[in-house]
Amino acid sequence: MTMTPLKSDFLEKMRQQFDNAPYPRIPLEEFPKNPRALYIHSLVTAYYRRNQKVVTPAGKLILDAGCGTGYKSLELAIANPGAKIVGIDLSPASVDLARKRLQYHNIENVEFHAIALEDLPSLGMQFDYINNDEVLYLLPDPIAGLKAMKEVLKPDGILRTNFHSSLQRIIYHRAQKFFKQLGFMARPEPEAEVKLVREIVKCLKNDVFVKQYGWNSNFETSDEAVLANYLLDGDKGWTILELFEAIESVGLELISMVNWREWDLLSLFNDIGELPFNVMMGFSDQSIAQQLHLYELLNPRHRLLDVWCGLPGQSQQYELISEWSDEAWQTAIVHLPLHLITDEFRAALKSCATEAKIFEMNRFCPLTDESIVIDSQGTGCLLPLLEKSRSVRELVQWWQKLRPIDLVTLEPTSEAEALVRVKELLQPLEESGYVMIESRV
Ligand SMILES: C[S@@+](CC[C@H](N)C(=O)[O-])C[C@H]1O[C@@H](n2cnc3c(N)ncnc32)[C@H](O)[C@@H]1O
Repeated sequence: MTMTPLKSDFLEKMRQQFDNAPYPRIPLEEFPKNPRALYIHSLVTAYYRRNQKVVTPAGKLILDAGCGTGYKSLELAIANPGAKIVGIDLSPASVDLARKRLQYHNIENVEFHAIALEDLPSLGMQFDYINNDEVLYLLPDPIAGLKAMKEVLKPDGILRTNFHSSLQRIIYHRAQKFFKQLGFMARPEPEAEVKLVREIVKCLKNDVFVKQYGWNSNFETSDEAVLANYLLDGDKGWTILELFEAIESVGLELISMVNWREWDLLSLFNDIGELPFNVMMGFSDQSIAQQLHLYELLNPRHRLLDVWCGLPGQSQQYELISEWSDEAWQTAIVHLPLHLITDEFRAALKSCATEAKIFEMNRFCPLTDESIVIDSQGTGCLLPLLEKSRSVRELVQWWQKLRPIDLVTLEPTSEAEALVRVKELLQPLEESGYVMIESRV
């Protein structure tokens, strides 16, 4: 295990905080199965968001920067078959658990180091993908952290990082200040402090702001939830504009929000047709960052401002599939994300196709608030993708076999008609992230 001297008391306190209470407390034996988490941790998803190209994770070098007890390192290993995972964390106790976790699951192509994120360049490695989840807001100088990660990112690599939303998290940040002023967060007995927090909140009147809006039954039972919200020393928040400014200040650029489907400003309105025209026009005049900021001002529901970013010049301009020509469609290749194809997904897709039932995509992997429902003809058309990726042309032929005649005119289903139907099926799935479609023109 590599160890480096710590640069400040702040880091020393942070190290103690997580040595005393390593995070997360998920049992080592637990095998990650959440398709949404695996989908997010797959570098294929991020690379596709950037260039609409499907890359293979085999042989890629992935860093889990601030890996804690390694649950997400394990997710990264499962989500990226054949990739090598390197985990680093300030806390040796956490790194020890991370190493044990991956050993338990027989993941071999992995190494861990107990070092500060700020010292990453000392590893002498360059990464294709960096996962920096739930860490940046704890650094004494988040910009220095971003710089260190940029330094170890390959020129075409992608960094996933996130920061707490100052707007969404305002209650917890205030509660943390309250407890800090009373001398809390001076561990090493986090459990005793958690107990005291519960006692204090119990004594509060129900309509006191912190209790009314910032407390729920989860805090009664989960010590980890109290530690991660009420007693998290060093926690900070930014707005979207502050996060984007930080990213730009180190010479990185945004690729996409990780949960991009949940940041649509227009989705906040009942009927955008009723919005005053000038206001609508005003929205479209705003930059992406400004539109996202308008969203968070109206609806600060995301605890994390979660982004993929990379070095400038790596994003190739590509056409949205809604603008593709028929020629582009016909030669395109359709992929189902690996992590969607669970046994349950496979069985449900088959049974909906054969028993003429509707299929709810979100049941298997909730990527969007919108419900994505497919009829049995559509599910039938997706079945060949369970085996391997297919060209749209193959799916069109498949569609013609499934529906050989037009049920109204009794004429044979033409290739052009089948293409229209396949496009109608695939386009919303692609826009929500359930399929990846690679152009070949
Ligand atoms: C909330 S936990 C998140 C762990 C893991 N990324 C996850 O999401 O499950 C934060 C982790 O960041 C680590 N950390 C905090 N400051 C750090 C620093 N300067 N360098 C490296 N790790 C740091 C802590 O030790 C802790 O394990």
